[in-house]
Amino acid sequence: MSKKILLSGIQPSGKPHIGNYFGMIRQLLGQQDEYEVYALIVDYHAMKSVRNSKEMTENIKAVVLDYLALGLNPKKVTFFKQSDVSEHTELCWIFDTMITMPYLMRAHAFKDAQMKNKEIDVGTFNYPVLMAADILLYGPDLIPVGADQKQHVEIARDIAEKFNRTYGEGGQFFKLPEAMIMKDVAIVPGTDGRKMSKSYNNTIPLFAEYEEIKKCVMSIVTDSSEGIPKNVYAIHNLLRPASELLPLYESKAGKYKELKELLIEDLEKFIAPLRKRRKEFEKDLPKALAILKQGGEKAKKIAAKKMEEVREKIGVNVY
Ligand code: TRP
Repeated sequence: MSKKILLSGIQPSGKPHIGNYFGMIRQLLGQQDEYEVYALIVDYHAMKSVRNSKEMTENIKAVVLDYLALGLNPKKVTFFKQSDVSEHTELCWIFDTMITMPYLMRAHAFKDAQMKNKEIDVGTFNYPVLMAADILLYGPDLIPVGADQKQHVEIARDIAEKFNRTYGEGGQFFKLPEAMIMKDVAIVPGTDGRKMSKSYNNTIPLFAEYEEIKKCVMSIVTDSSEGIPKNVYAIHNLLRPASELLPLYESKAGKYKELKELLIEDLEKFIAPLRKRRKEFEKDLPKALAILKQGGEKAKKIAAKKMEEVREKIGVNVY
């Protein structure tokens, strides 16, 4: 029996932190054996926020190194970038002709942008349509996403249905994908107790050097009235089970500095091997990039075949 297909889009938007890792990344990498996985770096989507060519290049390279270091296995996963497969934008246009503006205006991301900005670029408006093309070209069964992206997967389903109804001759030309909302994706707490997020400036970078880990941990907010400093504990609990941690924290109640030092050591134990692997990949960047390029070639073959069928369906194939 062939494996089910899972597809995931990765934003090339700067340094990942341990919150990203214990949230989505670990879950995604945990699926490599069970599913046939497509993981694409969505560089064209990222253009709506990255408008500097050097930064874009650096971000793409960094995300390749990050994922390889974290254990993405390119033998199992088709790892590529969107811009290597021009069929994504081509299919996006075809979908654009089939859906309406009022429909897209109902998207949460658009509404949020509308509340914040006076002028919204067309790319932001059209974002879910390019995402639908990313997905539908490969016929995946499942799209692992956070709750914020669920609506985008629904839009992809709607678009697939519309195309199938219009051109599918009663068949399922595009497979309808399901959103896989990762149940136990924990909300990882940041150094101030709020959700760990770049925008709150409360993160611990996933490939941090020892000194940086130290600095981040020392900045964890504690309240002098607590016996067990809950923000320190919450981050520590990502690395060690409560059965080990609780007795330790109870025996050192009130000793924040000591507990923070223990957390620094545990974080270092966890991060050091990742850092080392990343540096190894970094030493041979051309090799890492060749992996991405090969992934792109593989994806291109699949997407080109599907696009050929799309052209056939819409009637532009006259030769
Ligand atoms: N919109 C997704 C995000 O912001 C990224 C993305 C683009 C994506 N294309 C995709 C996710 C296709 C899953 C499938 O995180």
